[in-house]
Amino acid sequence: CGESGAGRLLTLTEIVVQLTAHLNSAEQCLAGKKVMITAGPTIEAIDPVRFLSNHSSGKMGYALAQAAYSAGAEVTLVSGPVAMSAPAGVTLVSVHSAEQMFNAVQASVQQMDIFIGCAAVADYRPESVQSQKIKKSPEVMTIQLTPTIDILASLNDLPTKPFAVGFAAETQNIKDYALGKLEAKKCDLIMANHVGIEGTGFGSDDNAVTVLGHDLQIELPKQSKTMLARAMISIIADTYKQRKL
Ligand code: PMT
Repeated sequence: CGESGAGRLLTLTEIVVQLTAHLNSAEQCLAGKKVMITAGPTIEAIDPVRFLSNHSSGKMGYALAQAAYSAGAEVTLVSGPVAMSAPAGVTLVSVHSAEQMFNAVQASVQQMDIFIGCAAVADYRPESVQSQKIKKSPEVMTIQLTPTIDILASLNDLPTKPFAVGFAAETQNIKDYALGKLEAKKCDLIMANHVGIEGTGFGSDDNAVTVLGHDLQIELPKQSKTMLARAMISIIADTYKQRKL
């Protein structure tokens, strides 16, 4: 297509981002650190042609991957299916289902210093996947759903757990529900994300979050996901370093 492929020169924007990252050592707050980020949706097959999923575009997670890389980190991006290319310099692991995302995370998360769970992982999957396309019928159809494994919470079973950052996508009682997830999943930080409103959250170019920690609350107002990701990475790096002291 001429748009992508081996040997194609990076876009000017990407070249500037890469150079800025490596020339501006003052911003290298994650130098030498290994960061894993999950991004995008997962898709859970119903039959060979249908699936359950959500509206995550990957923009927030990919912006975090770019910001972490620019801050000097070695970044692994575990991503569900999205219409975006991984930022240059970032290791991409592509997955489809929650189970595949779990396996990809488990494969190398033990070597990570920081884990950021930005993916909108499906909470449920069809209990069984039909091997042939389900035929249309006039009857009401019921699909039995079973919970998926919680990737973020599963980090608590590791002998050495990385600094864990979760997201909480909520449509109501944002702070309370986010604090509940911070405790339940034993995260170090959680990004409370008010979703379901026009112009932020799923699919949009902008977002706003409240960063919540055990003794921390920082409002990051609506701005581009690129700028927001930089602010988040700076807070994550600061909190990570304080925890290590
Ligand atoms: O991708 P974009 O279009 O840019 O949109 C960004 C976003 C809205 C998806 C992102 O900012 C966001 O809020 N991501 C979290 C979405 C979500 O599924 O939140 P949750 O509250 O259901 O999950 C809580 C946390 O547990 C999340 O860190 C999630 O990654 C994790 N989780 C959830 C279920 C599961 N089975 N495994 C998990 O690890």
